[in-house]
Amino acid sequence: MKDKVIKLSNGVDIPVLGFGTYKMENGKEAFESISYALEVGYRHIDTAKIYENEETVGEAINKSGINREEIFLTTKVWDTDRGYDNTLKAFETSLKKLNTDYIDLYLIHWPKDLNVETWRALERLYKEKKVRAIGVSNFKEHHLEEIFENCEITPMINQVEFHPELTQPELYEFCNSRNIVLEAWSPLMKGKIFSIDLLKELSEIYNKTIPQIVLRWNIQLGVVTIPKSVTKERIRENFNVFDFELSKEHMEKISSLNKNLSVGF
Ligand SMILES: NC(=O)c1ccc[n+]([C@@H]2O[C@H](COP(=O)([O-])OP(=O)(O)OC[C@H]3O[C@@H](n4cnc5c(N)ncnc54)[C@H](OP(=O)(O)O)[C@@H]3O)[C@@H](O)[C@H]2O)c1
Repeated sequence: MKDKVIKLSNGVDIPVLGFGTYKMENGKEAFESISYALEVGYRHIDTAKIYENEETVGEAINKSGINREEIFLTTKVWDTDRGYDNTLKAFETSLKKLNTDYIDLYLIHWPKDLNVETWRALERLYKEKKVRAIGVSNFKEHHLEEIFENCEITPMINQVEFHPELTQPELYEFCNSRNIVLEAWSPLMKGKIFSIDLLKELSEIYNKTIPQIVLRWNIQLGVVTIPKSVTKERIRENFNVFDFELSKEHMEKISSLNKNLSVGF
């Protein structure tokens, strides 16, 4: 289906709906959840060094029987590995843990010190074709400006907290204007979207659940989204968002719920 992928600035396709794995424990829980997600049809898995589940992500992908090239795999460099050499080392460790020979998307997890040096390491990994795309996470406009001024390659993705009560309109416009795709973390507000009246109304109008309405809103905005669940029926439910379309009016109404409210850190 045409709206299932978004083309990044370098031509690589990223599945617009991925599977988040934060707080999934390495081992049985993560293995069963990721395996089920792959069985249901997800082809995009989001992990990070700090989630401590890269081994299990790799195991679930390898045992799924699905060709590695069909799966879009993201991992991230953590704060303690920042800097040029440390990032290159951390990348190799992630690669080993994930038991694969390339990563689809490598992200700087948080902006802090050494953003430029860390980004240069990502540029090198990209040029060496060890990663198909590179990006950042939790970067504000000024962090991105620092990269533009000092580096060669523009990030292809910025993964940020994004949901009906935190729509980041300025950052969204800024990234759009520079061909940086926005990716939503905590798209379901970590499970706190259920008390919003408008979403209840829309759920009845479209005969879809509240999470499905919110994920569909992400997709129609051109925002990649990565809901997490360890519950089989929710994993299935969250993937079932390609058979309906929100009207322009309802899209705008959801966007107007913004309260600049974070459920994150
Ligand atoms: N880059 C960053 O700094 C950053 C930060 C945070 C997260 N992330 C990424 O973004 C992903 C998603 O964010 P998140 O895990 O924080 O939050 P989320 O996806 O917004 O919400 C996950 C929570 O919602 C529940 N849930 C999922 N689907 C549901 C449904 N259909 N109905 C009812 N409840 C449902 C889950 O419960 P169960 O699991 O119990 O089913 C879980 O408690 C993460 O897993 C991670 O990969 C990135």
